[in-house]
Amino acid sequence: MVEYAEHPAYPVGLRLSGRRVVVIGGGQVAQRRLPALIAAGADVTLVSPSATPSVEAMAEAGEIRWERRRYEDGDLADAWYALIASSDPEANARASAEAERTRTWCVRSDDAEAATAWTPATGRSEGVTVAVLTGHDPRRSAAVRDAIVEGLRDGSIAAPHHRSRTPFVALVGGGPGDPDLITVRGRRLLAEADVVIADRLGPRDLLDELPPHVEVIDAAKIPYGRFMAQEAINNALIEHAKAGKSVVRLKGGDPFVFGRGMEEAQALAEAGIACTVVPGISSSISVPGAAGIPVTHRGVAHEFTVVSGHVAPEDPRSLVDWESLAKLRGTLVILMGVDKIGAIAKALVAHGKAPDTPLALVQEGTTATQRRVDATLATVAEKVKAEDVRPPAVIVIGPVVAEGPHKNTK
Ligand SMILES: C[S@@+](CC[C@H](N)C(=O)[O-])C[C@H]1O[C@@H](n2cnc3c(N)ncnc32)[C@H](O)[C@@H]1O
Repeated sequence: MVEYAEHPAYPVGLRLSGRRVVVIGGGQVAQRRLPALIAAGADVTLVSPSATPSVEAMAEAGEIRWERRRYEDGDLADAWYALIASSDPEANARASAEAERTRTWCVRSDDAEAATAWTPATGRSEGVTVAVLTGHDPRRSAAVRDAIVEGLRDGSIAAPHHRSRTPFVALVGGGPGDPDLITVRGRRLLAEADVVIADRLGPRDLLDELPPHVEVIDAAKIPYGRFMAQEAINNALIEHAKAGKSVVRLKGGDPFVFGRGMEEAQALAEAGIACTVVPGISSSISVPGAAGIPVTHRGVAHEFTVVSGHVAPEDPRSLVDWESLAKLRGTLVILMGVDKIGAIAKALVAHGKAPDTPLALVQEGTTATQRRVDATLATVAEKVKAEDVRPPAVIVIGPVVAEGPHKNTK
Protein backbone atom coordinates (compact mmCIF):
# COMPACT_ATOMS: atom_id res chain seq x y z
CA MET A 1 0.00 0.00 0.00
CA VAL A 2 1.26 3.51 -0.74
CA GLU A 3 2.23 5.47 2.39
CA TYR A 4 0.02 8.57 2.60
CA ALA A 5 0.56 9.37 6.25
CA GLU A 6 2.54 12.55 5.75
CA HIS A 7 -0.25 14.14 3.71
CA PRO A 8 -3.11 15.84 5.49
CA ALA A 9 -6.57 14.34 5.04
CA TYR A 10 -8.72 15.87 2.30
CA PRO A 11 -11.88 17.29 3.91
CA VAL A 12 -15.19 16.61 2.25
CA GLY A 13 -18.87 16.54 3.24
CA LEU A 14 -20.46 13.21 2.36
CA ARG A 15 -24.09 13.40 1.24
CA LEU A 16 -25.25 10.03 2.50
CA SER A 17 -29.01 10.41 2.18
CA GLY A 18 -30.48 7.10 0.97
CA ARG A 19 -27.00 5.61 0.48
CA ARG A 20 -25.88 2.34 1.99
CA VAL A 21 -23.56 2.63 4.96
CA VAL A 22 -22.32 -0.44 6.82
CA VAL A 23 -21.36 -0.35 10.48
CA ILE A 24 -19.42 -3.29 11.89
CA GLY A 25 -19.75 -3.55 15.67
CA GLY A 26 -22.59 -2.28 17.87
CA GLY A 27 -20.63 -0.97 20.86
CA GLN A 28 -19.89 2.49 22.22
CA VAL A 29 -18.28 3.79 19.02
CA ALA A 30 -21.33 2.84 16.94
CA GLN A 31 -23.57 4.34 19.62
CA ARG A 32 -21.72 7.67 19.33
CA ARG A 33 -21.55 7.76 15.52
CA LEU A 34 -24.92 6.32 14.51
CA PRO A 35 -27.04 9.37 15.38
CA ALA A 36 -25.10 11.54 12.91
CA LEU A 37 -25.36 8.87 10.19
CA ILE A 38 -29.10 8.60 10.82
CA ALA A 39 -29.42 12.39 10.81
CA ALA A 40 -27.63 12.44 7.45
CA GLY A 41 -30.34 10.11 6.08
CA ALA A 42 -27.94 7.20 5.50
CA ASP A 43 -29.36 3.74 4.84
CA VAL A 44 -27.48 2.08 7.71
CA THR A 45 -26.92 -1.65 8.15
CA LEU A 46 -25.32 -2.73 11.40
CA VAL A 47 -23.51 -6.06 11.46
CA SER A 48 -22.85 -7.18 15.00
CA PRO A 49 -23.75 -10.11 17.27
CA SER A 50 -24.56 -7.69 20.11
CA ALA A 51 -25.32 -4.01 20.63
CA THR A 52 -25.60 -1.48 23.44
CA PRO A 53 -29.16 -0.78 24.63
CA SER A 54 -29.14 2.60 22.80
CA VAL A 55 -28.06 1.00 19.53
CA GLU A 56 -30.67 -1.69 20.02
CA ALA A 57 -33.30 1.01 20.48
CA MET A 58 -32.28 2.59 17.15
CA ALA A 59 -32.80 -0.78 15.45
CA GLU A 60 -36.15 -1.27 17.19
CA ALA A 61 -37.23 2.19 16.07
CA GLY A 62 -36.42 1.23 12.48
CA GLU A 63 -33.66 3.85 12.20
CA ILE A 64 -31.08 1.22 11.23
CA ARG A 65 -31.17 -2.38 9.97
CA TRP A 66 -29.44 -4.80 12.36
CA GLU A 67 -27.98 -8.13 11.27
CA ARG A 68 -27.19 -10.02 14.48
CA ARG A 69 -24.09 -11.86 13.46
CA ARG A 70 -20.35 -11.51 12.99
CA TYR A 71 -18.83 -9.78 9.98
CA GLU A 72 -18.57 -11.90 6.84
CA ASP A 73 -16.66 -11.18 3.69
CA GLY A 74 -18.99 -9.44 1.22
CA ASP A 75 -20.86 -7.40 3.84
CA LEU A 76 -19.53 -4.17 2.39
CA ALA A 77 -20.94 -4.86 -1.07
CA ASP A 78 -22.57 -1.72 -2.51
CA ALA A 79 -21.68 0.34 0.57
CA TRP A 80 -20.57 3.93 -0.02
CA TYR A 81 -19.04 4.21 3.41
CA ALA A 82 -18.15 1.88 6.26
CA LEU A 83 -17.53 2.29 9.95
CA ILE A 84 -15.49 -0.56 11.36
CA ALA A 85 -15.68 -0.62 15.12
CA SER A 86 -16.07 -4.15 16.42
CA SER A 87 -14.18 -5.55 19.39
CA ASP A 88 -12.66 -8.28 17.19
CA PRO A 89 -9.36 -6.99 15.68
CA GLU A 90 -9.20 -9.85 13.20
CA ALA A 91 -12.70 -9.12 11.86
CA ASN A 92 -11.85 -5.43 11.71
CA ALA A 93 -8.76 -6.18 9.65
CA ARG A 94 -10.70 -8.38 7.23
CA ALA A 95 -13.48 -5.80 6.84
CA SER A 96 -10.89 -3.11 6.30
CA ALA A 97 -9.22 -5.21 3.60
CA GLU A 98 -12.58 -5.66 1.90
CA ALA A 99 -13.17 -1.91 2.01
CA GLU A 100 -9.79 -1.33 0.38
CA ARG A 101 -10.60 -3.86 -2.38
CA THR A 102 -14.08 -2.47 -3.04
CA ARG A 103 -12.94 1.19 -2.83
CA THR A 104 -15.32 1.91 0.05
CA TRP A 105 -14.20 4.77 2.24
CA CYS A 106 -13.78 3.30 5.67
CA VAL A 107 -13.23 4.55 9.20
CA ARG A 108 -11.61 2.25 11.78
CA SER A 109 -11.97 2.81 15.48
CA ASP A 110 -9.05 0.56 16.41
CA ASP A 111 -6.45 1.57 13.83
CA ALA A 112 -6.52 5.07 12.39
CA GLU A 113 -3.53 4.37 10.19
CA ALA A 114 -5.27 1.45 8.47
CA ALA A 115 -8.39 3.54 7.82
CA THR A 116 -9.02 5.33 4.51
CA ALA A 117 -11.12 8.02 6.19
CA TRP A 118 -11.12 9.81 9.52
CA THR A 119 -14.13 11.14 11.36
CA PRO A 120 -13.73 14.80 12.26
CA ALA A 121 -14.97 16.30 15.50
CA THR A 122 -18.20 17.91 14.37
CA GLY A 123 -20.74 20.37 15.67
CA ARG A 124 -23.55 22.47 14.28
CA SER A 125 -24.85 25.90 14.99
CA GLU A 126 -27.69 27.47 13.02
CA GLY A 127 -26.99 25.88 9.66
CA VAL A 128 -23.18 25.91 9.95
CA THR A 129 -21.45 22.54 10.23
CA VAL A 130 -18.03 22.64 11.84
CA ALA A 131 -15.71 19.68 11.23
CA VAL A 132 -12.22 19.59 12.71
CA LEU A 133 -9.37 17.16 12.01
CA THR A 134 -6.04 17.44 13.75
CA GLY A 135 -4.46 14.17 12.70
CA HIS A 136 -3.86 12.01 15.72
CA ASP A 137 -5.24 14.14 18.52
CA PRO A 138 -9.02 13.71 18.84
CA ARG A 139 -9.15 15.69 22.08
CA ARG A 140 -7.52 18.63 20.39
CA SER A 141 -10.01 18.34 17.51
CA ALA A 142 -12.87 18.32 20.01
CA ALA A 143 -11.47 21.35 21.84
CA VAL A 144 -11.13 23.35 18.60
CA ARG A 145 -14.62 22.26 17.56
CA ASP A 146 -16.06 23.30 20.94
CA ALA A 147 -14.40 26.69 20.77
CA ILE A 148 -15.75 27.38 17.27
CA VAL A 149 -19.27 26.11 17.95
CA GLU A 150 -19.46 28.06 21.19
CA GLY A 151 -18.20 31.17 19.43
CA LEU A 152 -20.84 30.80 16.71
CA ARG A 153 -23.52 30.23 19.31
CA ASP A 154 -22.70 33.12 21.56
CA GLY A 155 -21.84 35.40 18.65
CA SER A 156 -18.18 35.96 19.64
CA ILE A 157 -17.33 34.52 16.21
CA ALA A 158 -19.25 36.65 13.76
CA ALA A 159 -20.87 34.66 10.98
CA PRO A 160 -22.96 37.28 9.19
CA HIS A 161 -25.27 36.13 6.43
CA HIS A 162 -24.19 37.63 3.13
CA ARG A 163 -27.25 36.76 1.12
CA SER A 164 -29.70 39.66 1.21
CA ARG A 165 -32.18 39.10 3.98
CA THR A 166 -35.83 39.87 4.23
CA PRO A 167 -36.77 42.20 7.10
CA PHE A 168 -36.62 40.29 10.34
CA VAL A 169 -37.30 40.77 14.03
CA ALA A 170 -36.38 38.44 16.88
CA LEU A 171 -38.38 38.69 20.09
CA VAL A 172 -35.79 37.47 22.54
CA GLY A 173 -36.48 36.45 26.12
CA GLY A 174 -33.43 37.68 27.99
CA GLY A 175 -34.03 35.83 31.25
CA PRO A 176 -34.37 37.38 34.69
CA GLY A 177 -31.33 39.65 34.71
CA ASP A 178 -28.10 37.69 35.16
CA PRO A 179 -26.42 37.97 31.73
CA ASP A 180 -25.48 34.28 31.88
CA LEU A 181 -29.16 33.34 31.95
CA ILE A 182 -30.05 34.26 28.38
CA THR A 183 -30.34 31.34 25.93
CA VAL A 184 -27.51 30.54 23.54
CA ARG A 185 -29.76 31.44 20.61
CA GLY A 186 -30.80 34.72 22.18
CA ARG A 187 -27.21 35.71 22.75
CA ARG A 188 -26.23 34.88 19.19
CA LEU A 189 -29.12 36.88 17.71
CA LEU A 190 -28.14 39.78 19.94
CA ALA A 191 -24.59 39.61 18.63
CA GLU A 192 -25.88 39.70 15.05
CA ALA A 193 -28.31 42.59 15.59
CA ASP A 194 -28.12 46.05 14.04
CA VAL A 195 -30.80 47.46 16.33
CA VAL A 196 -31.75 46.31 19.84
CA ILE A 197 -34.89 47.59 21.52
CA ALA A 198 -34.57 46.67 25.19
CA ASP A 199 -36.75 46.75 28.28
CA ARG A 200 -35.61 47.90 31.70
CA LEU A 201 -35.84 44.36 33.04
CA GLY A 202 -33.64 41.59 31.75
CA PRO A 203 -29.92 41.28 31.10
CA ARG A 204 -28.98 44.95 30.62
CA ASP A 205 -25.29 44.14 31.13
CA LEU A 206 -25.30 42.37 27.76
CA LEU A 207 -25.99 45.67 26.05
CA ASP A 208 -22.56 46.97 27.08
CA GLU A 209 -20.92 44.15 25.15
CA LEU A 210 -22.53 45.08 21.84
CA PRO A 211 -20.27 46.56 19.16
CA PRO A 212 -20.46 50.35 18.75
CA HIS A 213 -22.38 50.26 15.45
CA VAL A 214 -25.38 48.60 17.15
CA GLU A 215 -28.18 51.03 17.88
CA VAL A 216 -29.56 50.34 21.36
CA ILE A 217 -32.97 51.84 22.05
CA ASP A 218 -34.55 51.97 25.51
CA ALA A 219 -38.16 50.85 24.95
CA ALA A 220 -39.33 53.08 27.79
CA LYS A 221 -37.91 56.14 26.04
CA ILE A 222 -39.54 55.70 22.65
CA PRO A 223 -41.68 58.85 22.26
CA TYR A 224 -45.27 57.84 21.71
CA GLY A 225 -47.13 61.09 21.07
CA ARG A 226 -50.59 60.18 19.83
CA PHE A 227 -49.91 56.42 20.13
CA MET A 228 -50.00 54.11 23.14
CA ALA A 229 -46.51 53.20 24.38
CA GLN A 230 -46.89 49.64 23.09
CA GLU A 231 -48.05 50.84 19.68
CA ALA A 232 -45.00 53.10 19.47
CA ILE A 233 -42.73 50.13 20.26
CA ASN A 234 -44.46 48.03 17.60
CA ASN A 235 -44.02 50.84 15.07
CA ALA A 236 -40.33 51.17 15.94
CA LEU A 237 -39.82 47.43 15.40
CA ILE A 238 -41.60 47.59 12.05
CA GLU A 239 -39.76 50.69 10.84
CA HIS A 240 -36.29 49.35 11.65
CA ALA A 241 -37.05 45.97 10.10
CA LYS A 242 -38.41 47.64 6.94
CA ALA A 243 -35.18 49.64 6.75
CA GLY A 244 -33.42 46.28 6.32
CA LYS A 245 -31.96 46.06 9.82
CA SER A 246 -31.65 42.94 11.96
CA VAL A 247 -33.79 43.87 14.91
CA VAL A 248 -33.81 42.25 18.34
CA ARG A 249 -36.53 43.08 20.80
CA LEU A 250 -34.87 42.13 24.08
CA LYS A 251 -37.34 41.43 26.85
CA GLY A 252 -37.06 40.38 30.48
CA GLY A 253 -37.78 36.74 31.31
CA ASP A 254 -39.88 35.00 28.68
CA PRO A 255 -41.56 37.09 25.96
CA PHE A 256 -44.91 35.36 26.47
CA VAL A 257 -45.12 35.57 30.27
CA PHE A 258 -46.67 38.98 30.96
CA GLY A 259 -44.30 40.27 28.32
CA ARG A 260 -46.69 41.50 25.61
CA GLY A 261 -44.71 39.32 23.22
CA MET A 262 -47.78 38.18 21.35
CA GLU A 263 -48.96 41.76 20.78
CA GLU A 264 -45.65 42.50 19.12
CA ALA A 265 -45.68 39.25 17.13
CA GLN A 266 -49.19 40.06 15.89
CA ALA A 267 -48.26 43.61 14.91
CA LEU A 268 -45.25 42.30 12.97
CA ALA A 269 -47.39 39.65 11.25
CA GLU A 270 -49.88 42.34 10.21
CA ALA A 271 -47.02 44.38 8.77
CA GLY A 272 -45.81 41.30 6.86
CA ILE A 273 -42.53 41.10 8.79
CA ALA A 274 -41.01 37.75 9.68
CA CYS A 275 -40.56 37.27 13.39
CA THR A 276 -39.00 34.60 15.51
CA VAL A 277 -39.64 34.18 19.21
CA VAL A 278 -36.80 32.99 21.41
CA PRO A 279 -38.02 31.68 24.76
CA GLY A 280 -36.41 33.00 27.90
CA ILE A 281 -36.07 31.86 31.48
CA SER A 282 -39.04 33.40 33.21
CA SER A 283 -38.50 35.23 36.47
CA SER A 284 -41.58 33.42 37.79
CA ILE A 285 -39.55 30.24 38.28
CA SER A 286 -35.94 31.38 38.23
CA VAL A 287 -36.15 34.23 40.73
CA PRO A 288 -37.68 32.08 43.51
CA GLY A 289 -35.08 29.43 42.61
CA ALA A 290 -32.24 31.94 42.88
CA ALA A 291 -33.45 32.74 46.40
CA GLY A 292 -33.53 29.06 47.34
CA ILE A 293 -37.26 28.51 46.85
CA PRO A 294 -38.43 25.65 44.63
CA VAL A 295 -41.84 26.34 43.09
CA THR A 296 -42.66 22.64 43.50
CA HIS A 297 -41.33 20.15 46.04
CA ARG A 298 -42.20 16.49 46.41
CA GLY A 299 -44.77 15.96 49.16
CA VAL A 300 -45.22 19.73 49.61
CA ALA A 301 -46.54 21.33 46.43
CA HIS A 302 -47.77 19.58 43.31
CA GLU A 303 -48.68 22.72 41.43
CA PHE A 304 -47.69 26.30 40.98
CA THR A 305 -49.78 29.10 39.60
CA VAL A 306 -48.35 32.30 38.17
CA VAL A 307 -50.54 35.36 38.33
CA SER A 308 -50.20 39.05 37.69
CA GLY A 309 -50.80 41.29 40.69
CA HIS A 310 -50.79 44.56 38.79
CA VAL A 311 -54.45 45.26 39.55
CA ALA A 312 -55.92 44.85 43.02
CA PRO A 313 -58.43 42.00 43.65
CA GLU A 314 -61.37 44.35 44.07
CA ASP A 315 -60.57 46.22 40.85
CA PRO A 316 -63.21 45.45 38.20
CA ARG A 317 -60.42 45.12 35.57
CA SER A 318 -58.94 42.13 37.45
CA LEU A 319 -59.14 38.84 35.53
CA VAL A 320 -57.77 36.79 38.44
CA ASP A 321 -60.07 34.54 40.48
CA TRP A 322 -58.54 35.15 43.92
CA GLU A 323 -61.26 33.15 45.63
CA SER A 324 -60.27 30.00 43.71
CA LEU A 325 -56.57 30.71 44.22
CA ALA A 326 -57.14 30.88 47.98
CA LYS A 327 -58.37 27.30 47.87
CA LEU A 328 -55.30 25.87 46.09
CA ARG A 329 -52.76 24.00 48.21
CA GLY A 330 -49.82 24.60 45.90
CA THR A 331 -47.55 27.55 45.27
CA LEU A 332 -48.76 30.95 44.19
CA VAL A 333 -46.26 33.11 42.30
CA ILE A 334 -47.19 36.74 41.82
CA LEU A 335 -45.46 39.05 39.38
CA MET A 336 -45.92 42.82 39.34
CA GLY A 337 -47.56 42.57 42.76
CA VAL A 338 -45.45 44.64 45.17
CA ASP A 339 -47.75 47.67 45.17
CA LYS A 340 -50.91 45.62 45.67
CA ILE A 341 -49.62 42.83 47.94
CA GLY A 342 -51.46 44.19 51.02
CA ALA A 343 -54.83 43.99 49.23
CA ILE A 344 -53.94 40.63 47.66
CA ALA A 345 -52.97 39.07 51.02
CA LYS A 346 -56.18 40.41 52.54
CA ALA A 347 -58.29 38.88 49.75
CA LEU A 348 -56.56 35.50 50.03
CA VAL A 349 -57.14 35.41 53.80
CA ALA A 350 -60.74 36.57 53.37
CA HIS A 351 -61.28 33.61 51.01
CA GLY A 352 -59.90 31.11 53.51
CA LYS A 353 -56.12 30.97 53.16
CA ALA A 354 -54.34 30.69 56.52
CA PRO A 355 -52.95 34.05 57.71
CA ASP A 356 -49.69 32.35 58.72
CA THR A 357 -49.07 31.03 55.18
CA PRO A 358 -45.39 31.73 54.49
CA LEU A 359 -44.50 34.21 51.80
CA ALA A 360 -41.30 35.63 50.35
CA LEU A 361 -40.59 38.65 48.21
CA VAL A 362 -37.51 38.33 46.04
CA GLN A 363 -36.36 41.67 44.70
CA GLU A 364 -34.03 42.05 41.70
CA GLY A 365 -33.50 38.31 41.55
CA THR A 366 -30.34 36.88 39.93
CA THR A 367 -28.64 40.27 39.96
CA ALA A 368 -25.93 41.60 42.28
CA THR A 369 -28.59 43.42 44.29
CA GLN A 370 -30.91 40.44 44.84
CA ARG A 371 -32.59 40.35 48.22
CA ARG A 372 -35.22 38.20 49.87
CA VAL A 373 -37.72 39.37 52.46
CA ASP A 374 -39.79 36.76 54.28
CA ALA A 375 -43.21 37.34 55.77
CA THR A 376 -46.65 35.73 56.10
CA LEU A 377 -49.95 36.73 54.56
CA ALA A 378 -50.76 38.44 57.87
CA THR A 379 -47.55 40.46 58.08
CA VAL A 380 -46.65 41.18 54.47
CA ALA A 381 -48.23 44.63 54.04
CA GLU A 382 -46.32 45.93 57.04
CA LYS A 383 -43.07 44.13 56.08
CA VAL A 384 -43.04 45.56 52.54
CA LYS A 385 -43.24 49.07 53.99
CA ALA A 386 -40.75 48.48 56.80
CA GLU A 387 -38.20 46.84 54.51
CA ASP A 388 -38.91 49.20 51.60
CA VAL A 389 -39.37 46.36 49.09
CA ARG A 390 -39.62 47.74 45.56
CA PRO A 391 -40.32 46.37 42.12
CA PRO A 392 -39.16 44.32 40.37
CA ALA A 393 -39.94 41.54 42.80
CA VAL A 394 -41.44 38.09 42.57
CA ILE A 395 -43.73 37.12 45.42
CA VAL A 396 -43.98 33.45 46.34
CA ILE A 397 -46.74 32.22 48.63
CA GLY A 398 -47.06 28.72 50.05
CA PRO A 399 -45.31 26.05 52.08
CA VAL A 400 -42.38 25.79 49.62
CA VAL A 401 -41.15 29.09 51.01
CA ALA A 402 -40.23 27.27 54.21
CA GLU A 403 -38.21 24.68 52.26
CA GLY A 404 -34.54 25.10 51.61
CA PRO A 405 -31.26 23.26 51.69
CA HIS A 406 -31.09 23.87 55.45
CA LYS A 407 -34.30 21.99 56.09
CA ASN A 408 -34.06 18.40 57.31
CA THR A 409 -36.78 16.59 55.40
CA LYS A 410 -36.45 13.30 57.27
C1 LIG B 1 -43.87 42.78 32.95
S1 LIG B 1 -43.46 41.42 33.93
C2 LIG B 1 -42.44 40.53 32.84
C3 LIG B 1 -42.15 39.14 33.23
C4 LIG B 1 -41.19 38.43 32.33
N1 LIG B 1 -41.68 38.32 30.99
C5 LIG B 1 -40.78 37.05 32.84
O1 LIG B 1 -41.08 36.02 32.23
O2 LIG B 1 -40.07 37.02 33.87
C6 LIG B 1 -42.37 42.15 35.07
C7 LIG B 1 -42.37 41.50 36.43
O3 LIG B 1 -41.57 40.35 36.41
C8 LIG B 1 -40.94 40.18 37.66
N2 LIG B 1 -39.50 40.20 37.48
C9 LIG B 1 -38.84 40.19 36.30
N3 LIG B 1 -37.51 40.13 36.51
C10 LIG B 1 -37.32 40.09 37.83
C11 LIG B 1 -36.17 39.99 38.67
N4 LIG B 1 -34.94 39.91 38.16
N5 LIG B 1 -36.36 39.95 40.00
C12 LIG B 1 -37.59 40.00 40.53
N6 LIG B 1 -38.70 40.09 39.78
C13 LIG B 1 -38.58 40.12 38.46
C14 LIG B 1 -41.42 41.28 38.56
O4 LIG B 1 -42.57 40.83 39.23
C15 LIG B 1 -41.78 42.33 37.53
O5 LIG B 1 -42.70 43.25 38.04
